[in-house]
Amino acid sequence: MEDGSSMKKFYIETFGCQMNVHDSEKVIGTLEGTGYAQVPTPEEADLVVYNTCSIRDKAEQKVFARLNEFKRRSKDKVFAVIGCVAQQEGEKIFDRAPHVSLVAGSASYNQLPQMLIQLEAGNKRVTGLSLDGEEAFEVPYTRRDNPHKAFLTIIEGCDKSCAYCVVPMTRGPERSRTSASVLEEARILVKDGYTEITLLGQNVNSYRDPSSMGLDFAKLLRRMGEIDGLKRVRFTTSHPRDFVKDIVDAVDENPVLCNHIHLPVQSGSTAVLDRMQRQYTRDEYMRRIEWMKNAKRDIAITSDIIVGFPGETEADFDQTLRLLDEVQYDGLFAFKYSQRPNTPALQYEDHMTEEEKGRRLAAVQEHQRQIQIPNNAAYIGRVEEVIVDGYNKATQQWLGKNTQNKTISFTHPLMPNNEEGASLEGRYLNVRVTRSGPASLGGEAVI
Ligand code: 5AD
Ligand code: SF4
Repeated sequence: MEDGSSMKKFYIETFGCQMNVHDSEKVIGTLEGTGYAQVPTPEEADLVVYNTCSIRDKAEQKVFARLNEFKRRSKDKVFAVIGCVAQQEGEKIFDRAPHVSLVAGSASYNQLPQMLIQLEAGNKRVTGLSLDGEEAFEVPYTRRDNPHKAFLTIIEGCDKSCAYCVVPMTRGPERSRTSASVLEEARILVKDGYTEITLLGQNVNSYRDPSSMGLDFAKLLRRMGEIDGLKRVRFTTSHPRDFVKDIVDAVDENPVLCNHIHLPVQSGSTAVLDRMQRQYTRDEYMRRIEWMKNAKRDIAITSDIIVGFPGETEADFDQTLRLLDEVQYDGLFAFKYSQRPNTPALQYEDHMTEEEKGRRLAAVQEHQRQIQIPNNAAYIGRVEEVIVDGYNKATQQWLGKNTQNKTISFTHPLMPNNEEGASLEGRYLNVRVTRSGPASLGGEAVI
């Protein structure tokens, strides 16, 4: 065992989605496997890693802001830019931030140890930008911080070509992992004490087992639901075009499969959906919503919306607001359209002012808020099973999530840091809901 003080130290900061968060877990595991130790601040580190997101311009700018903060101060540090901005910008990052030494996209993380060896051997600039990284799933080490909830990648990349989106470029074409490998990792996770697994992919619905088993996504979900000891299975993210009724049926039949589905719609106007190249109409999307509404279980539905896509008229935007009324989403992520490099939407000319986009964003958010207030109030009096995530010192309440992924804060006689050293974290408890707000539920543990 190496002495801690002589070990090389790394700091990592992660931007973006759950895929990126999980990728960072793989990177942390890989770095630890090569003899690096993680430290909590960049100041203490020899190697500073930024795992980046380029979904919107703002996300991309963040990493360059971080890199500039260190420009002069840190001559002795090695900087690495990995993830989606790395894949998108490639060697251009060296021009914009000459103190960066390593640039790697997500398909190359299994080669990080070799890249580090090259750096240590005196190479000033190392890249990993190939996109045919079949083995990206099979990184030998993964370091998960949460001991109860785990992410598990089932499919990498995306074969769609939504007109606004960089992901097909930053994460490459779709590659599904074999069901045997997915189920094996899931069983190991359960043996290690995890009770909740979130299956990850840019489009999990187009999962197709490459082995002779040939399972589709719904069948994989059913197999996941049969694993002994697993309490909750989630998945994200879904694409309406590939979302089939069998997925709803699987969720309906098996309580281990959480009754929450994130099904991004992006717009309520068929004309805008068409220009976005989403491959479904408003009516086709609503049919999928009907499947969920007609299920026996109370399936929570959430979505993503982009406002201000080029050419979105006031009438198109109004269709989005009407769609929110019809669906009654449990939660919504709304974004202003942001122009991204190399995307098909750049060809459109009728771009909207930032001010108008801002107005529409605020309107859509307020509209959704008004929907959530009564819907959350309807939970009052219900008893919900939550997995406990932690304790909020400011409110002196515990925090947990129900199967629908709603956060519930609640009181419980057990305080954290108690004398017995007992913790509620990771436990499943029943909570009676007594309070609600536009984005939250509150209550007390049923003892
Ligand atoms: N501008 C704004 N929002 C975007 N999203 C993806 N690309 C863009 C873009 N160029 C949003 C979509 C997607 C979510 C992850 O981010 O709503 O579902
Ligand atoms: Fe950001 Fe998309 Fe990359 Fe996730 S996949 S980090 S959301 S650009």
